[in-house]
Amino acid sequence: MIAKRAQEIPPFLVMDVLERARTMEKEGVHVIHLEVGEPDFDTPQCVKEAACKALSDGHTHYTHSLGLLELREAICRHYQKTYNVSVSPDQVVVTSGTSPAMFLLFSALLEKGDEVILSDPHYACYPSFIRFVQGVPVSVRVYEKDGFQYRPESIRRKITKKTKAILINSPSNPTGNLLSEDRMRAIARFSPFIVSDEIYHGLVYEGHEHSILEFTDQAFVLNGFSKLYAMTGLRLGYLIAPQPFVRPIQKIQQNFFISANSMVQMAGIAALEKTGEDVARMRSLYDERRRYIVKRLKELGLGITVEPTGAFYVFANAKHIARDSYQLAFDILEKAHVGVTPGIDFGKNGEGDLRFSYANSLENIIEGLNRIEHYLHRLGEL
Ligand SMILES: Cc1ncc(COP(=O)(O)O)c(C=O)c1O
Repeated sequence: MIAKRAQEIPPFLVMDVLERARTMEKEGVHVIHLEVGEPDFDTPQCVKEAACKALSDGHTHYTHSLGLLELREAICRHYQKTYNVSVSPDQVVVTSGTSPAMFLLFSALLEKGDEVILSDPHYACYPSFIRFVQGVPVSVRVYEKDGFQYRPESIRRKITKKTKAILINSPSNPTGNLLSEDRMRAIARFSPFIVSDEIYHGLVYEGHEHSILEFTDQAFVLNGFSKLYAMTGLRLGYLIAPQPFVRPIQKIQQNFFISANSMVQMAGIAALEKTGEDVARMRSLYDERRRYIVKRLKELGLGITVEPTGAFYVFANAKHIARDSYQLAFDILEKAHVGVTPGIDFGKNGEGDLRFSYANSLENIIEGLNRIEHYLHRLGEL
């Protein structure tokens, strides 16, 4: 009865952990959440005010299917100012989050059997988007000692006649690491399209991030407001595409989604133009937590070869404790009452690692790590 494509889509394992944690909380257990990949900060006040004003000003109807021109222009100004790249508003498609942008992009790009190269580990949902439109995800292993960065020569070896795109995500979920400028430049020279998920841009604590558009225009940019502006529930994202793809993508948007939420698009303009101080404050708090959590995880014997410098994740090697990261994450949840994400959620090469999110207060992170320390003591690991 149920379509194969729906049956075959894998669960997002972090949600399994979160749902079990929520059940425990209902039973009165106090859980510290280091599994969740969403900012703990409140959405900036100016964004909320812009959304309320848009609502009372009557922004409650469909917008242009590509998105409000004012927002698309603001996105182009943002790319010009941040990366010195010139993007036309006609290349921007505004969506209800980065996830629908991914769906539009892969629907317009992939024929049955077309291959997309992605790193292993990678953001858990990428293969699902690719497979859903009958594409084939092709993994390239990345190594802890390289800070989980792609080696361009490993990508080259995987390129075939069917390769349509190479997917990059810097800063990365789950590793929190950045792709260096040199490697990015080298990857941009390969002939398939580059799909660059730039959703964690702006959350960088050492060095700085680059947009793929600095190196090639044969690229698609995925981006959104969820992380940098703490707007996960408002659902707003966008896709920047090479001109010939825009009309086909627009037709898919018109048929399946019509347009993104109009009032939230107005809030998006405020996010891009008015949140400088809010973003700086959140970034500095993330950085403080990052420095603490990395130091403490190392003291607990978890493996962090290259310290993460972006997003809000630490991907730590726990192979000396257990080989099965799913079981380990659940054991930590049941016994230490701390939620962490099993590395296997992010690909086979993530097995044996755990992802810790520092999108939680320093106080909670300290308490969470104290609990994990006791847990490891009881296991005889410390
Ligand atoms: C790498 C990456 N891309 C995309 C998304 C989806 O974001 P959105 O809330 O904009 O759909 C996430 C969410 O966790 C992510 O980590």
